[in-house]
Amino acid sequence: MARRINIALAHDETAPARLVREHIPDDSGIEMAEQFATFDLNADVILRMDVDVLLVACREGSPAALELVGLWHTVRSSSPVAVLSHGSDEEFVQAAFTAGADDFLVLQPGPYIPEQVGRDFEFAIRKAVTRTRHTAERGNESGSLIAVLGSKGGVGKTVAATNLGAALATRGRRTVIIDLDLQFGDVALALGLTPTTTLFDLAVSGGSLDADKLDDFMLRHPSGLRVLAAPARPDQAVSVTAQMISTIYGVLREEFDFIVVDTPPAFTAEVIATVDVATWICMVAMFDALSLKNTRLGLDTLELMGHPPDHVRVVLNRAGTNVGIASAEAVEILGRAPDLLVPSDREVPVSINDGIPIALSGSRSAAAAAIRSLADMFLANPSAEPSEPSKASPTPTRRRGWFRRKRAVAGAAELARGR
Ligand SMILES: Nc1ncnc2c1ncn2[C@@H]1O[C@H](COP(=O)(O)OP(=O)(O)OP(=O)(O)O)[C@@H](O)[C@H]1O
Ligand SMILES: [Mg+2]
Repeated sequence: MARRINIALAHDETAPARLVREHIPDDSGIEMAEQFATFDLNADVILRMDVDVLLVACREGSPAALELVGLWHTVRSSSPVAVLSHGSDEEFVQAAFTAGADDFLVLQPGPYIPEQVGRDFEFAIRKAVTRTRHTAERGNESGSLIAVLGSKGGVGKTVAATNLGAALATRGRRTVIIDLDLQFGDVALALGLTPTTTLFDLAVSGGSLDADKLDDFMLRHPSGLRVLAAPARPDQAVSVTAQMISTIYGVLREEFDFIVVDTPPAFTAEVIATVDVATWICMVAMFDALSLKNTRLGLDTLELMGHPPDHVRVVLNRAGTNVGIASAEAVEILGRAPDLLVPSDREVPVSINDGIPIALSGSRSAAAAAIRSLADMFLANPSAEPSEPSKASPTPTRRRGWFRRKRAVAGAAELARGR
C-alpha cells in the first residue's frame, strides 16, 4: 500500500477546501490534516504543522499566496509546497516557482471532478513528496541515529534526550525519540504526553513492521517530535527485543532525519544493538568523580565496540555545581574535554515536572541556553571536530574536605587510566 501523506491546505474564497478535497481521490491515502482559510500564517505555525506537504489554493496572481509559498520554502525546505489555481497564466506559474513552489496544479471548476484529474493530483502530490525526500537524503543517506548514553542513573540522559528531540523537531527536522529505558522509561511524561501506545503494544501487535504501522504507535508532541514510548510496566519490557529494535531503526531511518534514543544506565542488549548502528553517541556525565570515572569506562567501551571517537559528544551536566573538581581534573578523568557544559538549575526539574522541555521555554537561564544548544552539536557538519565547550568551566573553591575529595578525584583518574 502506498505511504500515507498528510497535507495542509491554505486557501482563499475562490478555492474552498471542499473543491480541493474533490480533486483528491478518497482511496489515495492523502489526508487533509490541517486547513486554513487564510495565507497569513507565521513561521511558528508552519514549523508546528505535522504534515508532509502544503497546498496553497488561490486565485491567479495572488501575492499573499506567493508570500506564503516563499515563507514555507524558507522555513521548511525539506517539505514541498504546491500551488493550486484556476488557470495556468504563464507569469503566475513562473512567479510561483520563483517563490519556491515544487509544483503547480490547475483546479477544475467542479462540482464534478473527472477521475483522471484526481489521479493526476494524487500523482503530482506523491511525486513532490518523494522528490523532496530523496533530495533531502542525498547528502545524508538515511536519518542520523543519536544514542543518548550515561553510565549512571540520574545523570540527565532523559533531560538531554527529550530536549534534543524537541529542539531538532522545532528546527524543522523530522525527528522521532525512542525510549529504550524499557523498564522505567519516562520520556513521554517528561514531554507532557500520556503514553496511550507504547513499544510493548507495538511488540504484541503481530504482523510486519512498516512505516504506517510504526506511525500508528507513535505519540505526537506539539513540536512535531514523534515518540515511541517505553512499556507502561517493567514486566512488559521482555516483549521488546533487540531484534525488534533493529528492525524499527531500519524503517525509521527511511522516514526521519533524526532518531534520538534515550537509554537506561546500562549496556543492555537493546543499547548494544543501538550503539552498533548509531551515527552519534551523546554521552551524558555528571560533575562528580564517580560519574566521570564511569563515563571514561563507557567511552573506552564504545571505542572497543568500534564506535569512532569523533562521533561521540560528551555533555557534562550539573557543571555549575561546586563539588571540588576542577575542569582540568574532569578532563583528566574523562580522557577528553567535554563538548557541552550544562549548569545545575532548578528550572530543569521544574520543566520535567511541567512536561515542557526547557529548550522550548523562553527561559534565558544559562541552563536553558546550554540545553537548547545541544541540537547544534548534531546539526553541524558531522565530520567537523568537536566544538569548544559552550560554558566557562567552573572553578573550584578550596574548603574543608577538599583534600579528601581531591584524593577521590586522583583515584578516579588513576582507575580510569588503568583500565
Ligand atoms: N542541569 C540540571 N539541573 C538541575 N537538575 C537536573 C539537571 N539535569 C537533570 N536534572 C534532574 O535530575 C533528575 C534526573 O534527570 P534524568 O531523569 O534526565 O536522568 P537520567 O540519566 O535519565 O536518569 P535514569 O537513569 O534514572 O533514567 C531529574 O529530576 C532532572 O530534573
Ligand atoms: Mg532516564
